[in-house]
Order: sequence, then structure tokens, then C-alpha cells
Amino acid sequence: TVLVVDFGAQYAQLIARRVREAHVHSEIVPSTMPVEEMLAKKPKAIILSGGPSSVYAEGAPNVGAELFETGVPTFGICYGFQAMTRALGGTVDRTDLSEFGRTELNVVAEDSMLFAGLPTEQLVWMSHGDSVIEAPKGFRAVATTTGAPVAAFEDTDRRLFGVQFHPEVLHSEHGQEVLRRFLYEGAGCRPTWTMVNIVDEQVGRVREQIGDKRAICGLSGGVDSAVAGALVQRAVGDQLTCVFVDHGLLRKGEAEQVEKDFVAITGAKLKVVDAEERFLTALSGVTDPEEKRKIIGREFIRVFEQAAREVVAESGENGSEVEFLVQGTLYPDVVESGGGTGTANIKSHHNVGGLPDDLRFTLVEPLRELFKDEVRKVGEELGLPPEMVWRQPFPGPGLGIRIIGEVTRERLDVLREADAIAREELSRAGLDREIWQCPVVLLADVRSVGVQGDGRTYGHPVVLRPVSSEDAMTADWSRVPYDVLAKISNRITNEVREINRVTLDVTSKPPGTIEWE
Ligand code: XMP
Repeated sequence: TVLVVDFGAQYAQLIARRVREAHVHSEIVPSTMPVEEMLAKKPKAIILSGGPSSVYAEGAPNVGAELFETGVPTFGICYGFQAMTRALGGTVDRTDLSEFGRTELNVVAEDSMLFAGLPTEQLVWMSHGDSVIEAPKGFRAVATTTGAPVAAFEDTDRRLFGVQFHPEVLHSEHGQEVLRRFLYEGAGCRPTWTMVNIVDEQVGRVREQIGDKRAICGLSGGVDSAVAGALVQRAVGDQLTCVFVDHGLLRKGEAEQVEKDFVAITGAKLKVVDAEERFLTALSGVTDPEEKRKIIGREFIRVFEQAAREVVAESGENGSEVEFLVQGTLYPDVVESGGGTGTANIKSHHNVGGLPDDLRFTLVEPLRELFKDEVRKVGEELGLPPEMVWRQPFPGPGLGIRIIGEVTRERLDVLREADAIAREELSRAGLDREIWQCPVVLLADVRSVGVQGDGRTYGHPVVLRPVSSEDAMTADWSRVPYDVLAKISNRITNEVREINRVTLDVTSKPPGTIEWE
């Protein structure tokens, strides 16, 4: 295994993901773990992640020199690079040039191990205030940028390496290759870790966690919960009951599809709960996005508790309690709900920050460390059909967070129609894979004047929010062809009486998020 030492912020998971992409097994450990404990895991390599702080900041995680005397090949990234410099006697200092974002890197040693065969000028992603001025003894500086005199160094004898930039983000042109060079050349790792291994490992872990107990899995109609359900089904079979909650905030045709496809393929036990009344009552009068999310998260759990009691009752004789709740939580959900160390709460994802305090289930979250596209691959590996695995992501709180204003049944019906039209036309234009997702948002409290068939209308606008993305952590607005947009706009305003205006959201993430609430 390769240990990714987490110094906080959001970087460690992304690094772990890139290591998986290089087909090498990885495990994240906190920076507070004692070195002996790390060594007990017999790592083939150690990667030190970036972090939020300067090495000189108060409370900055400390790194002792012993971490570099283990003989295990080690790669420091950003904060990890600076921490390594300091621990080994090099100089880190504040220069006047902070670098944030795309920066040009110059490779100054063409025979360097990290950069061999790569262009000597390349764009990298930087985010630092302090810089390494002088490499520690024994190291050779191999790259530089305007703001970082030493932007990469290596000591091939001791097999210690470091870079100031972030090789794990896609904006660093050759970042993945640099990381691979460290893993394969620097540390002698071999690319043997595959999707089959990942599924097997997760199935094994789930089996161990659940044992011979019972579990229920909340299906939301989205990809993540379907994959989580299928995975747990493979691990514990009939000890699992899937619960599909129709909360009235679903898209058109959603409930039918889950019943038909999911059950047919996985053979899972399914329970469908009609909870529309309950959710709409709880949401009545509520307009604040965080409040909506918390209410929906709470109601989900209440419905699951009820369903769990029914499962026990139905199983008759020695019906034991349902102890576990399976959720399709992904890594980005955890980060955005403020779950990482030192990360801010952007919004409370219903299945993370939206959970009630008195939760009685133990959570099973087999996808918690994965990103969406990895989850899709796991789904394919488990035999789920492409229509299900490649569906647009759909948030658990559903259309409830796509109505800006109070959520009512009438408004939901209006939005459902508009959403179905947009999805149909985007599919017809063959854009399903190109577009990550396209929320349709109803501005329910906004009205505007229009004219239709010689008459005045006073209707509501909807916003089309087509985005492209790799993992939903960042996104750009999709350049959907004008004639496709025209078709969608035409059909929505003609077929949905309450809507007299269709607008397009042209904001990237950041600064906008994908969903409006
Ligand atoms: P944002 O709006 O944060 O969305 O840019 C990122 C991705 O997450 C989805 N999303 C959710 N998924 N529960 C979910 O299961 C939630 O509470 C939730 N909120 C947002 C969103 O659709 C996008 O794909």
C-alpha cells in the first residue's frame, strides 16, 4: 500500500484517487499518526499531502525528521514539500510572490527522475504563500517557477522527492505523470490494483461490518445509492432490504424506473414507501435552503426507522433489529458538508450534514472515499446497466432544492414537466455523457410579463443549469448548441402553461454551486 498522509483540507482524497488511477493501492492516514504505526502498515511509499496552512503558522501540523529516516520512498506535495524541507534543514521563507492557480514551471534538470521525458516548460497548479528558498543537503533542485526558487527537488539515493505544485489536480498538465514516475520509478510500485480489487475489498469490508445483522438501504433514484445498494446486496444478500422513498420531490418516471430496473438486476428486496404527504407537510412554509435540506434529511431517517420496524415485523419469528443504514455517500458530499479537516460547510448534503442528531442506525457508506466516476465504474463492475450507471446525478433532496421559494405540490408538478422536457431533448441531442447534469430550477417567487396568443401572461421563469464536470467539486457551464436550447425553450413555454420564460445559467463552480440551493 501507499500511505497518503493527510495534513488537512481537501487534497488527500484527490491524491489517493490519483494513486488508484495509477493502479496502486492507497490508504489515507492522519498526520498525527506515529511513525511506527505507519511503518507497521508496511508501506511501499509515503505521500505527504498539501494542507491549509503555512509551515510557520501557529498550530501547523508538525513533521519530525524521523519520518524521512524510515527508508520508505517519500514524496512531499505543497505543504508536505515545505514540511520536508524544514525537517531536513532546508530553508522555507516568505517571498513577495505568492502563487495561486496556473503557473509556468521550468524543469532545470532534464535527467531528473520525476520529470524525465516530460516537457521542460509546463503548466502546473500552485497555491502557496511561502516558498522553498534552499533545498536541504543531499537534494538537487530540479524545477523552478517565478515565485518558487525551488519548485521541485529530489534525492534519489535516499529516495526522497518533493514538489511545490499540486500534481493531483487536472490543471497541472503532467501532474499525473509526475506522480506515476514517483510511484513506479521512485518507489518501485507496480500497477496491479484494479476495479475488481476495489469491489472485492469493499464487499469484504461491508461483510465484516454488518456480520449477520440486518441492514436497510435508502434508494434515492440516483446513481450513488443504487451502486451502494447493489454492492451491499452482493456482500450480505437478503440481510439487506432496499427502501425507496417516494417523497414527492422526484423526477417524472423515477419511481417506476427504480422498481423496474434495480430490482430486476440486483434481485434485492425492495420496499416502496409513499411519503409525499409527510415530506410536503414538513416543508410547508419553508424557504431557507439549509432548513429545507435539514428537514428532508430528518424525514428520510424517520421513514427509514418506520420501514425498519416493518421489516422486523414482517420477518416474523425471531425478527432481529435492523442495525445498519446503507447510504450512497460520496467523498465530495463529505467535503462540501464540512466533513474534511479544516473545510467549510458549503451546503449540508442530506445524507451527511442533514442527518438528525438522534440517529439510531449505524451507517454503512461503502462509497465514502470514492468520486462519482469511480462509483460509475464500480456500478458497471457490479453489472448495473449503462442507463442506470450513466444517469445524471440527482440529489437526494430532489426537486425540493430546485424550487426557489416554498415547495408545494403545484410547483413540483410544474417543475417536473419542465425538467422532463429538458432531459428528453438533451438525450435526443446525444448530450447525455457530455453533460454532467442539467438541473432545471423554478424561480417560484419571481414573475414576469409575457405575451402568448395575443394575451398577456404573468408567469414564472425557469433556469437551465447544464454543467460539465469531472467530479462535481468544480464545474463549468456547458456550451449546449443553440438549436438544442431553442428547442427546449420552445417546448417548455408551449407545453407548461405556468412558465413563460426560460433562462440559461452561465456561471462556473466556483463561484456558483451546481444546484441553486
Ligand atoms: P453542488 O450544488 O454542491 O452539487 O455544486 C454537487 C453535486 O452534488 C449533488 N448534490 C447532492 N447530492 N444529496 C445528494 O445526494 C444532497 O443533499 C446534494 N446536494 C447536491 C448535486 O446534484 C451535484 O451533482
